[in-house]
Formats: sequence, structure tokens, C-alpha cells
Amino acid sequence: MPSPVLDTPALSSVDPAAPILLFDSGVGGLTVLGELRKVLPQAPVIYAADMAGLPYGTKTEAQVTARVAGLLGRMTERFAPRLVCIACNTASTIALGMVREVLEVPVVGTVPAIKPAAAMTRSGVIGLLGTQATIRQAYVDRLEQEFAGDKRLLRYGGPGLVEAAEAKLRGEPVDPAAIARAAEALRAMPGCEDIDTVVLACTHFPLLEEELAQAFGPGVRFVHGAEGIARRIAQLTDGQDFARQIPDRALFTGPGEFPGAYGAALARYGLPEGGRF
Ligand code: DGL
Repeated sequence: MPSPVLDTPALSSVDPAAPILLFDSGVGGLTVLGELRKVLPQAPVIYAADMAGLPYGTKTEAQVTARVAGLLGRMTERFAPRLVCIACNTASTIALGMVREVLEVPVVGTVPAIKPAAAMTRSGVIGLLGTQATIRQAYVDRLEQEFAGDKRLLRYGGPGLVEAAEAKLRGEPVDPAAIARAAEALRAMPGCEDIDTVVLACTHFPLLEEELAQAFGPGVRFVHGAEGIARRIAQLTDGQDFARQIPDRALFTGPGEFPGAYGAALARYGLPEGGRF
């Protein structure tokens, strides 16, 4: 399904071994990688998770911008990716402009899928679940005005959902209170009784779609941007050769043991090797 994706033009000649670099604060960007594997299974990938900075959703705009621009600048120099995807709504809605100014490769961002949600809703009432930082961004105001001006958009920055998604990927139980809180908070907003579409405006949240679907009950559909982002990356790399010379890797910031408990999930996404950056 179509989604608002931000991008820049592709380079014309590219080393076949050059990876696509996917970046998130944690494992949320794997939801984008899952879709990318379907359209570009042959593409070499580096998945980068800024675990030392997780969560971005409770940080200030200045903190997120500094981390993202600094880390992506370093990684781009070191790994020479053909394209960078910021697989994170929080980082994209805050820092995409700055990142594009400093990087010399195409950058695809991820922004809340308000446009497709506006096309899907029958009742005209849309819920938006994002991080606390994402829901306050002017970028989201602009998307609302442009695509959902005649709809009702109810926003909620769900605390605990990012942590729940991270836990799920580590094979741990999901905190049912975080899920229930998100559904109840949206349901408690004026005019919410007719919500039929919920935008999952954080790349972590599709990992919890099953749990969220149970909490919201029948009659609510979920929409997110992963498929549209993968399609956009495929368009921007169209005509380029891909040759995976080394296994795809997941790289992490932070003091923990990586991949550690994430190893099994990362292997399912075709990331058999892990390390630090
Ligand atoms: N996955 C990120 C997003 O799409 C946010 C997670 C976090 O708060 O760090 O917004």
C-alpha cells in the first residue's frame, strides 16, 4: 500500500557489493527489512541499531538529531552504502533534512502512513500510534493537513510499546499493560468510538500487530509504511547490480552483549552476523 516516503535520487554507478544501510534506534527497522527482503532478496544489507540511544521517542529533537546525524555520518564513511534508509519514524520526522544535508548518498526516510490511512478509513476517524516525540512533530501536522484534512486524526504517543516490541524480539513475554494502555488511551479520546484505522507510526509497532489487533478488537485495521518504503528503495536502486560478498550483518551501539538474545530473531531476518559500531 502506498505510503509517504522521503527520498533523494539514486547514484548512477554503484559497487555491486555496496550494502543498503538500514538504521533504527532498535529492532523496529526489521519490519522494513522484512519487506525489503521480499522485493530485493539479493541486496547486501547492514542493519544498524542505536541501542545505546534507545528509545528515541522520549528524547529531545536536538538529542535525536545529534545522534542520528553523527552515527550515520560515521557509518556512511566506514561502510560506503549505496543507500541509507532511516527505518524510524521518530528519527525521520525530526532529522531527515539534516541527514540529507550531510550525507552524499540517497537517503530514504520513514514517515507516518497518514495518506494511505486516509484512503482506507470509512468512518473518517483515524488513530495514530507513534512515539511521544513523533506525534508532536510539525511534519505530522503537515501530513495531517495535506492528506487527512477532512478526517479526524487522534494521536497517541504510547509509552512502553517500543520496549514491548524489543522484548518480543528477544523471545520474552510482551507486557500486556502497555498494549492495553495504548488501546484504552485512543478509545478514551473524544470521537474515538468510530476509529476504524490505526496508523502504526513507529517501526517497532508492526511487531506487535497481533497483540494490538486483539486489544482494539474487530473492525479496526492497521496501516504502516514498511511495504511502501521497500518499494521506494527498489525503485531508487533499479538497474543496479547486487552481489553479496559477505554475510549481512546487524551492528549495534551500546554496552550490551550483541546479538545476544536478539540472535534468533536477527537470523530469521537474514542477519546471521552481529557486532558493534
Ligand atoms: N522505531 C522508532 C520509530 O519508528 C522509535 C523507537 C524509539 O523510541 O526509539 O519511531
